Amino acid sequence: MPKFAMRKILFVTSEAHPLIKTGGLADVAGSLPKVLNEMGVDVRLIMPNYQAIKTTEEIYYKSTIRVNNINAHILETRLPGTKVPVWLLDCPEFFDYPGNPYVDELGKPWLNSAQRFAFFCRIVVEVAMNRGYLEWRPDIIHCNDWQTGLVPALLSLEKDLRPATIFTIHNMAYQGLFPKETRVMLNLPSRLWSSNGVEFNGMLSFIKGGIVYADRITTVSPTYANEIQTADFGYGVEGLLSYRQEYLTGIVNGIDVDQWNPQTDTNISACYDATSLHKKQLNKAALQIKYALPVDKNIPIFVLISRLVEQKGIDLLLECLPEMLNLPLQFVLLGKGDKLLEQQLFRFSKKYPEKMVVNLGYDEALAHQFEAGADIFLMPSRFEPCGLNQLYSQRYGTVPIVTRTGGLADTVVDTLPETLKNKTATGFVFNAPTVGSLMEAIKRALIVYENSKDWKQLQINGMKKDYSWNRSAKEYLALYEKL
Ligand code: ADP
Ligand code: GLC
Repeated sequence: MPKFAMRKILFVTSEAHPLIKTGGLADVAGSLPKVLNEMGVDVRLIMPNYQAIKTTEEIYYKSTIRVNNINAHILETRLPGTKVPVWLLDCPEFFDYPGNPYVDELGKPWLNSAQRFAFFCRIVVEVAMNRGYLEWRPDIIHCNDWQTGLVPALLSLEKDLRPATIFTIHNMAYQGLFPKETRVMLNLPSRLWSSNGVEFNGMLSFIKGGIVYADRITTVSPTYANEIQTADFGYGVEGLLSYRQEYLTGIVNGIDVDQWNPQTDTNISACYDATSLHKKQLNKAALQIKYALPVDKNIPIFVLISRLVEQKGIDLLLECLPEMLNLPLQFVLLGKGDKLLEQQLFRFSKKYPEKMVVNLGYDEALAHQFEAGADIFLMPSRFEPCGLNQLYSQRYGTVPIVTRTGGLADTVVDTLPETLKNKTATGFVFNAPTVGSLMEAIKRALIVYENSKDWKQLQINGMKKDYSWNRSAKEYLALYEKL
């Protein structure tokens, strides 16, 4: 048995697909542990037991842990369809409410976010130190994003032998910053309170707990690992990140190739692969029919699936729309988020009903239908730590148009005469998040689309790429080994 099989990993996350998902973190937390488990690693997940969690698996009571005079029950289940054990931290006073991990039913951030996730972190520390009556002592605690940032910080204060810690940054834009009084309210040890600790410009920073105290830091692409060490992407933490450069690596995300597989996808009208690309047309027609768009296989359909927030360049796209919608194309969008952006997009769709459709909502099955039915995927992000939809798109023969940033730069190869010739081109990459640059990429894509031979080659190049977790999971294993 390989050496790494001996390692016991506790994977700490605020969301995991299909239990609960708001974005790419859930995709990663739902797929990386599965692959590690298949590689023989004893990996377990821990996350809060939100009201919105959905599962078909059984749930058992395991133990009760008490911290700060509050009881939390640990329930055990499995990541649906896998052998990965999941521990759900059940504490109704924090988590038994409608809404998602970060916002309530009305979309407002939870007023007690700091308390909710600090409590979660404290329970994780108890489990990490094998004080949770679970009879399992992890070697490594793998934390993700600010919600878990206090785990490495609190573990650093343990006197007994503690497990090693890894902190993965999925997005520097979310740091878990709270007024300084929160520290006292959370009863955090004063030893953690300094600019070399969890203090950030007089505020409490959860993410610094991870960045300062974790034994290793990772982020989700090599380019983003460099970017966050600069003022443009580091949100004031760039200095600390470059100070800890030696311990920081970028590992590009993989995807769940079982769930995102056009050959077997049960959400789509017709399954296909690189040798039966003509069947993709049936999915295109289904999308056109569904949204009452003219059914025409020669008009390219652009899609966008996204959280509607500034990061994703939606404002740029809005500026492009008047010109874009005068070109021979159709555009279908699935997204949810900022209300103003939602309204602006919706208004455009009313103005151009024959060309643009806006579906304001969150729908997993539809996301698959969009990937299968589209010709082109738009991802004009201002920054993108990794991005998953450009990977799903390539696997579905849908050609992505992306900004040259973060994981997009690392995973899409621009179409140029030489990359077409050597069969490496998989999409269109534009240099700067500007209207001019994005429009130019859209026009370049339309020109290549006219040449069906080149277009097919682009689709096949993308479909042949291996975006499974195999390579990246091995990089994580190598890192676990070093610890
Ligand atoms: P981020 O995590 O920043 O939102 P990613 O590209 O890493 O970006 O992951 C986004 C994930 O969320 C993808 O799986 C995408 O399909 C999904 N997603 C985003 N918005 C929607 C939506 N409105 N409906 C369905 N899936 C969505
Ligand atoms: C974040 C990032 C996204 C990344 C995802 C999973 O939400 O915005 O780029 O793919 O995390 O790592």
